[in-house]
Amino acid sequence: KKVVLAYSGGLDTSIILKWLQTEYGAEVVTFTADLGQGEEIEPARAKALAAGVKPENVFIEDLREEFVRDFVFPMFRANTVYEGQYLLGTSIARPLIAKRQIEIARQTGADAVSHGATGKGNDQVRFELGYYALEPDIHVIAPWREWDFKSREALLDFAEKHQIQITKDKRGEAPFSVDANLLHSSSEGKVLEDPAIEAPEFVHMRTISPEDAPDTPTIFTMDFEGGDPVAIDGEKLTPAALLTKLNKLGHDNGIGRLDLVENRFVGMKSRGVYETPGGTILLAAHRGIESITLDRGSMHLKDELMPKYASLIYNGFWFSPEREMLQAAIDYSQKKVTGQVRVKLYKGNVTVIGRTSPYSLYDQDLVTFEEGKVAYDHRDAAGFIKLNALRLRVAAKRDRRG
Ligand code: ARG
Ligand code: SIN
Repeated sequence: KKVVLAYSGGLDTSIILKWLQTEYGAEVVTFTADLGQGEEIEPARAKALAAGVKPENVFIEDLREEFVRDFVFPMFRANTVYEGQYLLGTSIARPLIAKRQIEIARQTGADAVSHGATGKGNDQVRFELGYYALEPDIHVIAPWREWDFKSREALLDFAEKHQIQITKDKRGEAPFSVDANLLHSSSEGKVLEDPAIEAPEFVHMRTISPEDAPDTPTIFTMDFEGGDPVAIDGEKLTPAALLTKLNKLGHDNGIGRLDLVENRFVGMKSRGVYETPGGTILLAAHRGIESITLDRGSMHLKDELMPKYASLIYNGFWFSPEREMLQAAIDYSQKKVTGQVRVKLYKGNVTVIGRTSPYSLYDQDLVTFEEGKVAYDHRDAAGFIKLNALRLRVAAKRDRRG
């Protein structure tokens, strides 16, 4: 058995690595990705080697550009939010990890893949639907669903027995579970489990609180091409560099905090605290440029499709025919979503304060309260309203008859 493990180098996946070797008798290939989580990934190499992984079986990769270009930006073209608020920062990273694991499995001749998600959450579903969609007969090993450690204590004893380093606070247990990447940080569990109680300030790791944000606003421009952001204040940036810059601007202005109770795919409700500084700015700016470049029909249709598209991503169906179908429609709509917006950040708020585009549909002559020069005849409005009112009048008359 040869298995590709999604390996962070942290305590839990280090235990899984050992468990795969000792209990499963597997040869392990480790895969560690930089998705912008803000932690060094190189230390994972030494840890994997120390655990007996062959040097040629250690994969360490910087996937930040691919993550933003091929996953985050396509998702933002749809203005995607789950249950009205969640920007899907964790959900959108899973398909990329799954894809690379399968590619590495092919490259190394591995017949199995493994991950560190628990048996109660969404992430197990996302990883595994990704694996199966890309490699139908792959063997999936989900240690959290399979091993028989009865408690956290038993798990830590296993770690100690195998000389896996445990930091002191881990014995006392981390105060909550974190998942982070360039798009967001998410915190769940433990001190956050009671949804009636406000999250402590120390849970937040990538934004200052709006209360502490500067008293003067930050104003800048963002250029869009075909629905994707390409420059900030006129400076062209790669996708990952652009999102990094938005994250910094958002951080400094207390942008993108969210405290949410959401419905997991597996059925239970869970409470999460999210920080998506750059993504929150991008969403507002993208809507800003769409507001002048999209026709009402395509705009409203996009908004109808969006919740469906969001659920597909949340539930792990990135690699599905219906997600690709929706993506094609969304991408088609973005052809003329090109231009510039001016954005203002102030104490936790994002406001679009200006928009321009060579493809603008906005017609000042048409909308002006002054005498218009173009083909809008007020008399047309009278008949338009009368016909729209027809069925309302018929119903009102019936109801008056009683
Ligand atoms: N609830 C979020 C989602 O399903 C985040 C899950 C991972 N977060 C974590 N802190 N372990 O996308
Ligand atoms: C996990 O259970 O591994 C994290 C939370 C989730 O996947 O929803």
